[in-house]
Amino acid sequence: MSNEYLELSQVSIEFPTPKGPFKALNQVDLKISQGEFVSLIGHSGCGKSTVLNIIAGLLKATTGGVLLESREVDEPGPERAVVFQHHSLFPWLTVYQNVELAVKKVFKGKMNKREMAEWIHHNLELVHMRHAEHKRPAEISGGMKQRVGIARALAMQPKVLLMDEPFGALDALTRAHLQDSLMEIQDELGNTVIMITHDVDEAVLLSDRIVMMTNGPAATIGDILHIDLPRPRRRVELAGDSRYNAYRAEVLKFLYERQRNPADDDDTSGKTAQPKIRAVKTAQVGDEKVKVA
Ligand SMILES: Nc1ncnc2c1ncn2[C@@H]1O[C@H](COP(=O)(O)OP(=O)(O)OP(=O)(O)O)[C@@H](O)[C@H]1O
Ligand SMILES: [Mg+2]
Repeated sequence: MSNEYLELSQVSIEFPTPKGPFKALNQVDLKISQGEFVSLIGHSGCGKSTVLNIIAGLLKATTGGVLLESREVDEPGPERAVVFQHHSLFPWLTVYQNVELAVKKVFKGKMNKREMAEWIHHNLELVHMRHAEHKRPAEISGGMKQRVGIARALAMQPKVLLMDEPFGALDALTRAHLQDSLMEIQDELGNTVIMITHDVDEAVLLSDRIVMMTNGPAATIGDILHIDLPRPRRRVELAGDSRYNAYRAEVLKFLYERQRNPADDDDTSGKTAQPKIRAVKTAQVGDEKVKVA
């Protein structure tokens, strides 16, 4: 394991806006080891997707940069597959063809047609979507589209899997199933994963480290929490584990005490403009409902 497999150094970014440049990120420094699972957590609009898009090569930092295995990242590449916040399937292709497109890009000349078909089926099975392989995106639900997006990313066997709230749109059971599958897949393949989430339980369950971001503008890393729980991790056992609950409390404290949601401070109506974070405020752990506000 290298300590500097993926390295963000002094990453800052400014977006041009009609009112002048908007500094979204300020001097983000982060070193990620090979095979590590890192979650990014922070309030809506703080800059999580921007960090991920810079690592993906889809956005360029204004200053600073990203190194993967000592090589500068300056464009997108199949070794850094992205699962977007909102699915991004080609509407005119079937589920199978959407995954096939990615597989051809990576494995052309390395796999024959039969091997490719087997590999596509294998990845669709991982996300329980084999039954819908001939359907087009318009014919399947939002959660199903997201699952195909995950299969497509996994099928590229990326060195780094970048996931932007990959399970946000899914029902609780599918979400739990995919979280478990992701842990198994990562254990088997050893990919490095960077995942954005708003779900504190998901972050603690899956991560080796949770990177907690400060509020923007000029957001940066506020704190990093190491999750020192043995693997394989089982959600039911962990619900009653005192270390697990202490980690969750740390993250909640960061989000609601140290980095209050800016929308709450503007709020004079008694309502909040940030339902996503509100939802976490009474988070469910097993049978227990934890009130945090
Ligand atoms: N292309 C752009 N032009 C101008 N401002 C932008 C652009 N992209 C992002 N921003 C701003 O940068 C900040 C960070 O955005 P980003 O999408 O990274 O937030 P986020 O943490 O992913 O939020 P969410 O949790 O809601 O997805 C926000 O204030 C956003 O308005
Ligand atoms: Mg985002």
